[in-house]
Amino acid sequence: MSLLRTKTIEQSLADADEPEYQLKRSLGPLDLIVFGVGVVIGAGIFTLTGRAAHETAGPAIVLSFVVAAVCCALAAMCYAEFASTVPVSGSAYTFSYASLGELLAWIVGWDLLLEMFLGASVVAQGWSAYLGTFLSQVGFDIPESIGYGGVVDVPAVVLVLVLGGLITIGIKESMRVNLVLVGIKLFIVLFVIFAGIQFVSAANYEPFVPPSQPTETTSGLTQPLLQAMLGIEPAAFGVGGIFAGAALVFFAYIGFDVVATTAEETRNPKRDLPIGIIGSLLICTVLYCAVALVVTGMVPFDELSPEAALANAFEVHGQDWMATVISAGAVAGLTTVVLTLMIGASRVMFAMSRDHLLPPGLAKVHPTFRTPWVITAIVTAVCAVVAGLTPVGVLEEMVNIGTLSAFVLVSIGVIVLRRTRPDLPRAFRVPWVPVLPIASAAICLYLALNLPVETWLRFVAWLAIGFVIYFTYSRGHSRVGKAQEPARTPVRPG
Ligand code: ALA
Repeated sequence: MSLLRTKTIEQSLADADEPEYQLKRSLGPLDLIVFGVGVVIGAGIFTLTGRAAHETAGPAIVLSFVVAAVCCALAAMCYAEFASTVPVSGSAYTFSYASLGELLAWIVGWDLLLEMFLGASVVAQGWSAYLGTFLSQVGFDIPESIGYGGVVDVPAVVLVLVLGGLITIGIKESMRVNLVLVGIKLFIVLFVIFAGIQFVSAANYEPFVPPSQPTETTSGLTQPLLQAMLGIEPAAFGVGGIFAGAALVFFAYIGFDVVATTAEETRNPKRDLPIGIIGSLLICTVLYCAVALVVTGMVPFDELSPEAALANAFEVHGQDWMATVISAGAVAGLTTVVLTLMIGASRVMFAMSRDHLLPPGLAKVHPTFRTPWVITAIVTAVCAVVAGLTPVGVLEEMVNIGTLSAFVLVSIGVIVLRRTRPDLPRAFRVPWVPVLPIASAAICLYLALNLPVETWLRFVAWLAIGFVIYFTYSRGHSRVGKAQEPARTPVRPG
């Protein structure tokens, strides 16, 4: 039964008030929306749009963006309810600990670490790709072996190290940097939409949903798990392609959930977290659909660049200076994504070590900066190594599966917590419980089944490592477990 032990909401809130673990409360609703947009708009729209349109969905990629947005909107409501009920660091991990029990909470925390560590590393690589493109556009080439896709991706490593330093100094300062970079990023996305409209040709939307066809990129281990399970012949495009595309571009929306990890640094979390989560998702959905429509209208989908579609679409029309502006903007824009995912990763680890599921010494807060500096150092080191040394283009789907599985558990957690703790004040309530959370879990699961077979295999391996750590370390050290032990020991009379 110890696997099902839960941490009470009251305990979670009390832990967050312990002086040695206390974070500075400095963020308001606008900070959270900026934070959300800062982490959401990134490598997904700048690179994956092209790849998904080119290989999986064609012009119907805009529908993939809509499907992924619906999935995220449902999950966002579940996150908003939880975040407004249990406003402490750790996001989905903390929520699950309160509702689903320790083992599932551990799995969610482990999934979130996958999402954020790998997410930060993947986007750092994407940043390095755009930096390389930008520098070569202005006449300076980074040597191949130390650039994007080289032996060691030096620019990606340097970026991660610099950002790790910023996070250690303090989140408010990081937010200020964030604000400037998010402004630049929004400008670039709007620039793509408004400057691109003039080059749109209706002919490029024909056929809007290209007929389903076998391709090299979807076969064997790279086909969606759902196709493999149903024994359907591996194929791309068609209606199936829209969903496979949605499972891929889901990456572009990842990050709104990271807003919930800043709960302890928010002045009025019960009101501001739902605003931050849902607000940033809404803004991004509108922008993404517009970008997808414009870009697939500018270039026939089979000629779209799978790497740097946005800049490339302008080059095709002879607008090199516009392509340079977009690359420069992407460099600024992707910086904030890496920054925010690193902050998110450190906050989840912080919450897990405060609960002693990871060694508690890690969670100490720096006396001057009031940030969890030991954890930040670990996050920085791991991301630097992964970003610097892993081959490019293999980790995006891993990030997606980690996130989708956390979404499934959070959605179920909303229903459970409504039953077990109906008394708690909820500043934001998901409508139509349990229908909406069930729909949310089902859609997330469906999208995950549209991810490639090899992604599932890697995910199972990741979970296996998580189980080993849980059963060899966390279960025995758990603070909640220790607190509950004496209560179970019978008191001897006399
Ligand atoms: N949503 C983030 C991106 O697209 C992770 O880069």
